[in-house]
Amino acid sequence: MTEGRFPGTRMRRLRRAPWSRAMVQEARLSPDNLIWPIFVREGVGEAEPIATMPGVFRHSVDRLPDLAREAEDLGIPALALFPYTPAERRSADGAEALNPDNLVCRALKVIRDAGVNVGLLTDVALDPYTSHGHDGLVDATGHVLNDATVEVLTGQALNQARAGADIVAPSDMMDGRVAAIRAALEESGHSDVQIMAYSAKYASGFYGPFRDAVGAGGYLKGDKKSYQMDPANAREALREVALDIAEGADSVMVKPGLPYLDIVRRVSERFDVPVFAYCVSGEYAMVEAAAAAGMLDRDRVVLEILTAFRRAGASGVLTYHAPLAARLMR
Ligand code: PBG
Repeated sequence: MTEGRFPGTRMRRLRRAPWSRAMVQEARLSPDNLIWPIFVREGVGEAEPIATMPGVFRHSVDRLPDLAREAEDLGIPALALFPYTPAERRSADGAEALNPDNLVCRALKVIRDAGVNVGLLTDVALDPYTSHGHDGLVDATGHVLNDATVEVLTGQALNQARAGADIVAPSDMMDGRVAAIRAALEESGHSDVQIMAYSAKYASGFYGPFRDAVGAGGYLKGDKKSYQMDPANAREALREVALDIAEGADSVMVKPGLPYLDIVRRVSERFDVPVFAYCVSGEYAMVEAAAAAGMLDRDRVVLEILTAFRRAGASGVLTYHAPLAARLMR
């Protein structure tokens, strides 16, 4: 070989044929990597569209067994349930969170009774139930109280575990809640219930459509910056994750997703627990808006985005595109 006449290394050799590209592919995406968030409402036979999340609906409880069967058929391992609580069930103390007959508990029971083989994840935080829209209890100045909130969250997690939750996911960002919930689950005979901690949850503008979906947007007074993280911070996320693991979390989460891929990568490199990412409502809305305007090929970018999470080290992704993505992978 004459020096300088050929590229010394031809990277394109491996990329030339489809069989070769498949053979050398690094990150793999499968339906097993998906968790499907579902919004639940009162009523019968209802699938109510959500204006800011085209293609996503608030489903009445009776529709859930069919959705769970759809997930099972598509190979999606778990659903995340979020309630749309009617205004009259909201209060300053979020007491509805402790009601064994609240929407989420009824949803859990209905799906459990249908005998479908999917995992059921529930959010532990008070914002679906509070009249002020915060994830916890507030004092007279509007400050969210930590320890008093943790007590209520512990009761909420137990309430969900009793109704059949497989995974409780504290999304409230209070300090010490994972330890308190773990202890309560153990003491009450729910030692098999997993905790997926929303460990690095940022105070993000990307939650806008979700707050519309669960009807919390109109209620929220102020912002969540005294408990959710500053988007500028990365090292702090590592401390949060370390604490949640020490307190007994089985898996951890980074949220939102795409703008925080660097955090997913750092957490997955540093810690040996499964790391999940939440590709949140605003990220879903961006893709849908661009696709609807003919600016992007939805199917292609959805799979590309999900692959990026896998490449960054995520075990799985909570995504409203879960059923679409699972269908595309068939
Ligand atoms: C509530 C909660 C939020 C999301 C999940 N759980 C919103 C918030 O913290 O205001 C956001 C999910 C999404 O935007 O898709 N604790």
